[in-house]
Amino acid sequence: MKSYLTHLECTNCGKAVEAAEPARTCPSCGKVLYARYDLDSAKRRLTRQALAGRAPNMWRYFEVLPVLDESNVVTLGEGFTPLIRAERLGRALGCRSLLIKDEGINPTASFKARGLAAAVSKARELGLTALTMPSAGNAGGALAAYAARAGLEAHVFMPADAPEANRKEAQVMGAHLTLVDGLISDAGALSRRAARERGLFDVSTLQEPYRAEGKKTMGYEIAEQLGWRMPDVIVYPTGGGTGIVGIWKAIEEMEALGLLDGPRPRMFCVQAEGCAPLVRAFHGGADHAEPWENARTLAAGMRVPSAIGDYLILKALRDSNGGAVTVSDGEILDWMGRVSSLEGVFVCPEGAATAAALSKLIASGAVAPDELSLLLNTGSGVKYLETLPTATPSR
Ligand SMILES: Cc1ncc(COP(=O)(O)O)c(C=O)c1O
Ligand SMILES: [Zn+2]
Repeated sequence: MKSYLTHLECTNCGKAVEAAEPARTCPSCGKVLYARYDLDSAKRRLTRQALAGRAPNMWRYFEVLPVLDESNVVTLGEGFTPLIRAERLGRALGCRSLLIKDEGINPTASFKARGLAAAVSKARELGLTALTMPSAGNAGGALAAYAARAGLEAHVFMPADAPEANRKEAQVMGAHLTLVDGLISDAGALSRRAARERGLFDVSTLQEPYRAEGKKTMGYEIAEQLGWRMPDVIVYPTGGGTGIVGIWKAIEEMEALGLLDGPRPRMFCVQAEGCAPLVRAFHGGADHAEPWENARTLAAGMRVPSAIGDYLILKALRDSNGGAVTVSDGEILDWMGRVSSLEGVFVCPEGAATAAALSKLIASGAVAPDELSLLLNTGSGVKYLETLPTATPSR
């Protein structure tokens, strides 16, 4: 298969950057770089018919992924996760047609596998040998796994209160793990310093261009699994926002590729009451989100006080006529039990947050009961055993 990657482009100032060399953020303005493809040519090969015969993993969209030589792909079979009809949960939420995309069955049990499979594969292709990254938890585990598989060195900086499963998986898969007494932003500063001092390449989310490329495959899959249409509503648990901007980028690309029928979905971002910089910025009419002070929530993946891609997330929410909503930790725990016991999907706290959010969005009238709504369960509840106070389901 052939990738149609052409170059990188700054999402803020439009500067074009060479993709043949390792790149992080825009050399002119410091903002997020996106991978760009020759979609006019890719269109001839990446057709619905061609896709129908390909292997069920995220590399089926090879033409619009950044790895040029297939032999550089580092894979554990990530992607093509199930899209589950959730009728019982839908009834509990007052939603007549509800879907759950279950990312918990990915390798390393979260959607972070997609981003890190793409970033580590591209790092290998570019000749990088040692990577570093701050992580709320799941991304660190995924980096450790894909670096192990590629034979690369991995350094992970994680808040000391990250879930135990994440700390252990990173270590057991051979990453150099540093636990940080602070938040992911503090871990980020240490990762950047380690990169400078020890010659490591920093793959912080949206501070290198390729993790978003892996995550965008969620958007391609949702469309393909629905017969090349998007649902009306997508509810996404947002931390750094790579997934939400990745899905939005996929939609733009699929339109240019002639793959998508029907309208774009409305995108909704969910954050926790104790850490909601994007929700605050959305409702305040701002284009950027001020860092959140004293970020606190049991949903580690959403404990992200500031996101470099804030302007991209806010634009996707607004352009799609979507919205932003907060949920409390109590609601998250409550919906962990409900979603899991109603549908048999052992959701992570972040996934449960999307159900809590949809119940609020329906109650407020922001989402209509007959809209086809999709919840992203970004990881497996298995990784958060210490978060669950009891094993008692509550429907
Ligand atoms: C399970 C889970 N859900 C959601 C998120 C937030 O993801 P994003 O950075 O794409 O906003 C994370 C990030 O760590 C996570 O681990
Ligand atoms: Zn720029």
